[in-house]
Amino acid sequence: MNTSERDKSGKIQPWWETGIIYQVYPRSFQDSDDDGVGDLRGIVRRLDYLEWLGIDCIWLSPVFTSPMADFGYDISDYCGIDPVFGTEEDFDLLLHEAHQKGMKLILDLVPNHTSDQHPWFLESRSSRNSPKRDWYLWQDPGPDNSPPNNWLSVFGGTAWEFDPATGQYYYHAFLKEQPDLNWRNPEVQQAMVDVMKFWLDKGVDGFRVDVMWHMIKDSMLRNNPLQPGGHTGSSFYDDYFPVYSTDQPEVHDIVRAMRSLLDSYGQKVLIGEIYLPVNKLVAYYGKDNKGAHLPFNFQLLTMQWDAEKISAVINEYEGALPAGGWPNWVLGNHDQSRIASRVGLPQARVAAMLLLTLRGTPTLYYGEEIGMTDVSIPRAEIVDPQGLGFPDLYKSRDPARTPMQWNTSPNSGFSQHRPWLRIANNFDEVNVELQKNDPASMLRFYRRLIGLRKQEPALHSGIYRPVYTDPQIIAYMREYDEGDSFLIVLNLTPRPARFRPSHFHWTGRVWLSTLPRKTGDRELSGSIELAGDEGLIIRLSGND
Ligand code: NOJ
Ligand code: MG
Repeated sequence: MNTSERDKSGKIQPWWETGIIYQVYPRSFQDSDDDGVGDLRGIVRRLDYLEWLGIDCIWLSPVFTSPMADFGYDISDYCGIDPVFGTEEDFDLLLHEAHQKGMKLILDLVPNHTSDQHPWFLESRSSRNSPKRDWYLWQDPGPDNSPPNNWLSVFGGTAWEFDPATGQYYYHAFLKEQPDLNWRNPEVQQAMVDVMKFWLDKGVDGFRVDVMWHMIKDSMLRNNPLQPGGHTGSSFYDDYFPVYSTDQPEVHDIVRAMRSLLDSYGQKVLIGEIYLPVNKLVAYYGKDNKGAHLPFNFQLLTMQWDAEKISAVINEYEGALPAGGWPNWVLGNHDQSRIASRVGLPQARVAAMLLLTLRGTPTLYYGEEIGMTDVSIPRAEIVDPQGLGFPDLYKSRDPARTPMQWNTSPNSGFSQHRPWLRIANNFDEVNVELQKNDPASMLRFYRRLIGLRKQEPALHSGIYRPVYTDPQIIAYMREYDEGDSFLIVLNLTPRPARFRPSHFHWTGRVWLSTLPRKTGDRELSGSIELAGDEGLIIRLSGND
């Protein structure tokens, strides 16, 4: 057993603690049949690239049968592959090939809601006496035929849709084409166990569970309270505190049941998509850490890019973790603006250095490694339902979902056909092929960071210790053993900054800088000057 697989206490670490997860948004990764939409065989073709980059685990956004009202997050058959992505054989091939390369493959499980075209829902809506009526959340109208309560859809407007055929409303936290399942019903729970078993029996390595904190709602369906400054009757989700429609105590029993199913299959990972403040998020590790292995930590996605604030959050998160709960960090996903657009390209390198040197599993979003930016999509080309729902609010998620930029050929090597979303017009400069050959590129920088993290026990398994310094800077140490420690110093601003830690004396050598011309073996100590957007990984030779 390699020492790098043990943490400081001697515990053997599972693959999802030491490894790096990469999110593939299948529609946009690689098209193999030239219909303009990425697919499973396309991903197979690009596995060599992911291996070269140093990825340990691929998370696939949904590839299941779907009417695509929410691009696959509306599933009509949990055990079928949508023809746009390929066939079950294509999936088996991808799983096999990924495993051949020593990579794990995890799937997106969407248990909170189905498509309104799912046979379960078609049956449920057919009559009040349907045996599946109670699989979904049906309610009588309120006074004057109003919705049963004030709960709103994340995508805007009431979360209740009236169904004239049976005279009741059904609840949908997202689109009306995505009715929420009733997770208090044991038959629903069993149906989802069967789905999980289907994929686990094939050999998948775990699940990322969509909107885990939404799965159970208040049994009395009480109205959500207004946020301070919120407007009564508003149709904006954020005007209310979703205290009764999300994050109910009973959700933890469901998560625990999912986890125990996974445990019965061996080393399988359970990841939860959860947007909650740190103190609530950590509850999803579950009692005795028998909940999610990795409740996704989105702090870096949602916070202002400010050194003092982020340092405080890292410390808060480290402090809030339950004993034995493993941390994780996320910089980008298919629902958020890309990091290079949020903080600028030079600072995106600092962000990458942060992500890949913090304690906890990093999740990368496809394209961040080449510095892809949000692509401006003309109004007439918006396809994301969240964008179409709020045309004037720039809520569309399309800009962060555009096709991967592989090379300088037409459509950047993504497809021979016009892609489903337009490709960034700078693809002839920003693409994998060019960056592979450029030692100063973002891609080569990412690859070095990933390599370092994998090679150095201090970086993937060491403890985290904050170092207090100038307010422009985040600084911390990662320590594994005596004599095996790194100092990370990150300037979160484009202005020069001075790192002058009080009561901390150190010497060390630079292992990596975000600035290509400053990377190279140099000895440093004490107080140092950083250029704007500079981050350094320093291997310590002495400190006290
Ligand atoms: C979260 C997913 O990440 C998002 O893309 C989707 O729209 C909602 N869940 C609804 O499934
Ligand atoms: Mg295709």
